[in-house]
Order: sequence, then C-alpha cells, then structure tokens
Amino acid sequence: MQLADIPTPALLLERSILERNLDRMAARARRLGVALRPHVKTHKCVEVARRQAERGARGFTVSTLPEAEALAAAGFEDLTWALPLEPSKIGSALRLARRVTLRLLLDDAETFRLLETAAAGAGTMLHAWLKVDCGYHRAGVDPESPEAFRLARRMSASRAVRFDGLLTHAGHAYGAFDPAARRRIAEEEREAVVEFARRLREDGVRVPEVSVGSTPTLTIVEDLAGVTEARPGNYAFFDLTQVALGCCDVADVAVSVLASVISHPAGSGRAVVDAGALALSKDPGPQAPEARDMGAVCADALAPAVDPSLRLVSLSQEHGVIRPVEGADLAGRLPVGARVRILPNHSCLATACHDVFHVVDGGRVVDRWRIQRQR
Ligand SMILES: Cc1ncc(COP(=O)(O)O)c(C=O)c1O
Repeated sequence: MQLADIPTPALLLERSILERNLDRMAARARRLGVALRPHVKTHKCVEVARRQAERGARGFTVSTLPEAEALAAAGFEDLTWALPLEPSKIGSALRLARRVTLRLLLDDAETFRLLETAAAGAGTMLHAWLKVDCGYHRAGVDPESPEAFRLARRMSASRAVRFDGLLTHAGHAYGAFDPAARRRIAEEEREAVVEFARRLREDGVRVPEVSVGSTPTLTIVEDLAGVTEARPGNYAFFDLTQVALGCCDVADVAVSVLASVISHPAGSGRAVVDAGALALSKDPGPQAPEARDMGAVCADALAPAVDPSLRLVSLSQEHGVIRPVEGADLAGRLPVGARVRILPNHSCLATACHDVFHVVDGGRVVDRWRIQRQR
C-alpha cells in the first residue's frame, strides 16, 4: 500500500525513527544503571512493546486494564498498572493477577486495606507500589508525612500483598523549559524516593524497588543512584511538546497524522484538512495562546519536513484550518485533495484517537499495528 491509498485522516508511524528512539533510551537506561519499564500509554501497541522488550525492557507500565490485557495476551507477564487503584477495580485486577505479575499502585490506606482483604480472600498474590509525590502534586503521598511512613510500613508488613517499593512521576517537568530547571526536577524526582527509601530502610522497612520516570526527566538526568527502574513513555514517539522542552529534535518525532485538504476557497487564505480534534486531540501544546499552533504541517506527505510557512491555527471535531504565516501566501498551494502530514503537539493523545498505526518506512507503508485504545 502507498501513502496515497490510505484513507485519511490516518496515523503514521515512522519505523526507523521509532527504533532509533527505543535504541537511545535503552542505551541511556543501561548507562544510568536502571532497568526500563516503559509506559505503554503512549503507543498502546503490542508490536511497539515487543520492540521495547527486544531492547531489554524488564516489564511494562500501563494506564488501563485493556492495555494490560493486551500485553498479557501477547505473553508479557510483568505489568505495573500505574494509575492509583480505585476499589471497584480490585476484582478485575485479581482476575488478571492469576495470569501475570500485576503490580498495583496506591496512596490510600483504606484502599490498601480493601486490597489486602480481597487478595487474601481470593488466595491470589498481588503486588503494590506506594505512589509518592515528588512535587507534581497530582497523586501520591507526601514523603515527609508521618502518614506516608505508616502506610509504607503497613504495606511492607502485609502477607497478602507484596510490597514492591516506592514509585514516583515528575509530571511537573512538563512545565520546565529551561534545561537547568528540568535537570533540577529530575534530581528532585530521584531524591524524593531515594531519600524516603533510605529513611524507611533505616527503620527496618524492606523497600525492594525504587521507580521513577518521565520523558523530560529521563532525557536529561545524569545520575540515578539509588533508583532501580525507570518508566518513560513518550520517548518512543516524542512530539512537539518534547521538542519545545528540548528533549528531542523535530526529526525524532515518530508519529504524524496524514490528512487531505478538503476545502481551499479561492482567495480565502486558508486550507482546511480532514484532521481535526478527533485525529490529533486538542492538546494546545506548550506555546502561549497568541502563538498557539495545533500541530506542525509537513506540506509534502512523502518527504515529511515541517513547512515553516504554514500554521495549523485551529481544530474543530473533523476540521483542521491551515493558514500561511505572516507574509506568506497559499495561492497555488494545497489544492483540494492534496495530502499533508501533521506532527502532533501530544503524541499520546493523538495516538489514542486512532485504532491503527500505518507503519511507514521511506515513504512506503510496511505494516499496520493495532492500537489498544478501549478503556
Ligand atoms: C505514573 C507515570 N509513570 C510514567 C509516565 C511516563 O511519562 P512520560 O510519558 O513523560 O515518559 C507517566 C505519564 O503520565 C505516568 O503517569
């Protein structure tokens, strides 16, 4: 199949860029002395997971049970479900834990009590991480609080649930555009859990593992002493947000949305493509509102280089509006039926809009990989 034959909008995955991104992070983890447990929320795809496993991933991180089910069906048996556990999901988790090593995540004493009771009743071994807040202030216990210490102690003493250790995610690194600030957050991410683990161990609590990970911190950190594993996700594809943060170059962005021009009224100064928010998501990216683009346009779908004269200025459900930058002109360009590629602001959300990757190499479609996007 050629690119010209694919119905648009469609998600393209450049195989060689993907493999280079995977190689680089695997090498980085080896150099830093940590195991990799990639987060599959970015790709939701067994074929990509296989390539991560071939490069030494020790297991995977998932954000949904369907992702976990898909990986389990493909034979991957060491999975961390990295969303704080909600008690109504304990039954489903127990069913899955009969087939794989399932590591759950929590930050709540009552949820742990319910989990312990259910695991003991079912006679099924579950694992659990204690989620630690390293400054993102989303989920996670405050490592300085007495409650966090008590919960860790309680989890480590459990017979029904195996305590895996401490896990954190520095999501606030997505606001750090200065490399020094990003490096500082990476160090704070490491220190929050390593220092908490040290205090717990000093008090006789066994902390087997210490897990950190986000793409902005993992691409800059130079020292992960005390950490045992890392869970980056976005690095497999990167996107324009990671480019803006300085984590990668535009040439490292592995996914794009193939779109067709569906309207270009003569003299209007705008071309409309069939990729809207349901193909790209509506992630505004990191720019200030007045400079905000909803993606970057590659005018030639076969030779994907960003065209600096074009802006994707707005998205509605199925429409994307392209305008020229100040001083440029669309006359004679982008007629109805022309095809462009659009690099996404956020590759994880764009991927979750699609059922399949069209895997491309040198302008040829070489494969189709399923995306596990059910929730
Ligand atoms: C708990 C957890 N771990 C790891 C990651 C991976 O982060 P990134 O996609 O920045 O690599 C995420 C992303 O949201 C996460 O929530």
